Amino acid sequence: MNGKLLGTLIVVLGIAGIALWTSASSASADNGVVLSAVKLLAAGPAAEGEEHAYVGSKKCKMCHKDEYKSWEEGKKAKTLDILRPEQAAEAKTKAGLDPAKDYTTDETCLKCHTVGFGKEGGYQIPDPADEKAVKQAKALEGGGCECCHGPGSAYIDLHKEIKKSKRTYKVEEMHAAGLAKITKETCTECHNEKSPTHDPDNPFDFEKMKEKGGHDMFPLKQREE
Ligand code: HEC
Ligand code: HEC
Ligand code: HEC
Ligand code: HEC
Repeated sequence: MNGKLLGTLIVVLGIAGIALWTSASSASADNGVVLSAVKLLAAGPAAEGEEHAYVGSKKCKMCHKDEYKSWEEGKKAKTLDILRPEQAAEAKTKAGLDPAKDYTTDETCLKCHTVGFGKEGGYQIPDPADEKAVKQAKALEGGGCECCHGPGSAYIDLHKEIKKSKRTYKVEEMHAAGLAKITKETCTECHNEKSPTHDPDNPFDFEKMKEKGGHDMFPLKQREE
């Protein structure tokens, strides 16, 4: 914690303390003052307890060009597109879905065909007239980076620091900062029997699929074994 932050904390705690003391000593306690002091504290610069938010695949592109390019050329980047009418028509018909229907606004599908639908900073169905919302949604379309690696707001600052300092790191440090450890469960959140196209005779095989799901792999230069 830096000095400025500590200073703010002391001031805010001070206000809360005075407010508490005032309200305790007067019969007509004004809890509103205490509440607003507490709120001020919560909204202050120490925003650490906040839920990790999705930032969109484009934010990863500048440092991970190879992975991004490989991902962009694969199927994972287009999992929202296949919900549009006439896309993957054969698979839809086979699964009992209507190939003429637009499923891009069907919430039951979006959960598995976008990044973080229904979660903090995750995909939201945009109002087509709202340019900003359309742009935001675009960054979270399809099976983006954060579907597997977890919400970027948690760890992106650490990645930036590692990039800048050129120092080595251990993967545990990144996991501690919120980068997801990829396990079978990462994938079976979507690759499960709730998918309308799921083939029960061909259940998800993590070991076989692991290296094929997102992108080609490239050697890491700064990671310590
Ligand atoms: C529980 C997660 C989940 C839900 C919900 C879901 N999908 Fe999918 N979808 C997947 C996965 C995973 C695949 C890859 C194939 C598979 O395992 O089914 C997929 C594949 C597809 C495919 C392509 C199949 C192919 O072979 O090209 C289409 C089309 C599709 N889904 C449409 C839909 C539609 C339309 C909905 C909503 C009615 C929907 N999905 C809901 C997870 C889901
Ligand atoms: C379908 C899941 C999935 C998606 C989507 C995905 N990845 Fe990965 N990624 C993996 C797996 C699996 C590994 C292997 C290492 C591991 O288990 O952590 C990996 C490894 C990596 C690595 C380290 C190895 C290397 O190739 O340099 C980087 C960097 C990376 N991913 C970045 C990205 C970026 C950027 C995106 C989005 C453009 C992305 N990933 C999308 C699953 C995914
Ligand atoms: C957010 C939901 C979601 C998650 C999480 C997810 N997938 Fe997928 N995956 C899909 C959907 C949807 C498709 C269908 C794409 C299509 O058929 O066009 C798919 C397709 C695939 C495919 C076949 C397409 C291809 O590129 O060859 C592989 C392999 C795959 N996923 C592996 C993985 C692995 C491995 C993981 C975990 C590390 C994972 N997926 C996590 C939704 C997901
Ligand atoms: C400012 C640059 C920067 C940004 C932005 C960035 N990263 Fe990284 N990331 C790095 C660096 C540097 C490494 C270490 C690379 C190396 O060792 O060669 C790394 C490593 C990784 C690894 C490998 C971890 C390991 O050791 O297995 C993954 C996975 C990864 N990043 C995913 C992402 C994802 C997903 C995003 C977007 C949400 C992202 N990164 C954004 C710089 C960045």
